[in-house]
Amino acid sequence: MSLKFGRLSKSSILGVKTVIYSKLISGGIIGCGIAGLAVALNESVKASDLTLHPPKYPWYHRQGFFNTLDMASVRRGYQVYKQICAACHSMRFVAYRELVNNTHTEEEAKAEAAEILVTDGPDETGKMFQRPGKLSDRFPNPYPNEEAARAANNGAYPPDLSYIVLARHGGEDYVFSLLTGYTDAPAGITVDDGQYFNPYFPGGLISMAQALYNDVVVYDDGTPASASQLAKDVCNFLKWTGEPNYNERMLRVMRIIIYGSAIFLACWYGKRHAWSVLKSRKIMFREKKTVD
Ligand SMILES: *[C@@H]1O[C@H](CO)[C@@H](O)[C@H](O)[C@H]1NC(C)=O
Repeated sequence: MSLKFGRLSKSSILGVKTVIYSKLISGGIIGCGIAGLAVALNESVKASDLTLHPPKYPWYHRQGFFNTLDMASVRRGYQVYKQICAACHSMRFVAYRELVNNTHTEEEAKAEAAEILVTDGPDETGKMFQRPGKLSDRFPNPYPNEEAARAANNGAYPPDLSYIVLARHGGEDYVFSLLTGYTDAPAGITVDDGQYFNPYFPGGLISMAQALYNDVVVYDDGTPASASQLAKDVCNFLKWTGEPNYNERMLRVMRIIIYGSAIFLACWYGKRHAWSVLKSRKIMFREKKTVD
């Protein structure tokens, strides 16, 4: 049987192919162009002569495939946040109850929450009132609104830290580098009042002063509180607030691998078992003996 192409001759088929190829090629070029433009725009936002790219630090949770967050460090990081960062930065998406069984016991978390005053109400007379915090309360905001925050910080708005590790290019490496990277400005850079030089901050001039110095916090668990230890712990804490289910996700991967291989082995054995009769069958061809 021969295939009929109707009125399509060989040359017109070639022509169609050429058109398709040229469309693919021009589409590819346009696609590459768009991708290149996107990369260039992204780089142009990041690029600055004065900006250092943070190195990759050996975070415990990144070391092994199954490593979870170092929760002792996360707990210390909460202490650093509470005693240092919370003076200017809010964390309005994190509630005290999230500490329970993660970094603190229920009693400890209740005690932490009770340290803050929350405006609640209205009561039966229609007035707002203040009460100690409960587990369901979010971390307190140091400023009543953005304008107050800007007014108190030379016009700069201290960003909310709940998801900061996810929101910044470089994640915890960037935050760690930023916190420990304050240095004198190089010659030729003018640093105005209320500005500080930090080579990891895009543009180099940042409105936040260096916050972490050796021993500005006395850790409850007795860990020596060097500035880099404080930065590491608070980064671990911010990583956890950004991805509170990080640990469960890692454990889920482990479970999938273990259960998956068990199921795979069972299926493999079952398949061999079911097919063994057919697979071990021998088919022989015997010529029929004919008697002339
Ligand atoms: C915390 O852990 C305790 C003990 O395992 C358990 O009884 C309690 O329900 C847990 N609390 C939360 C909020 O998960």
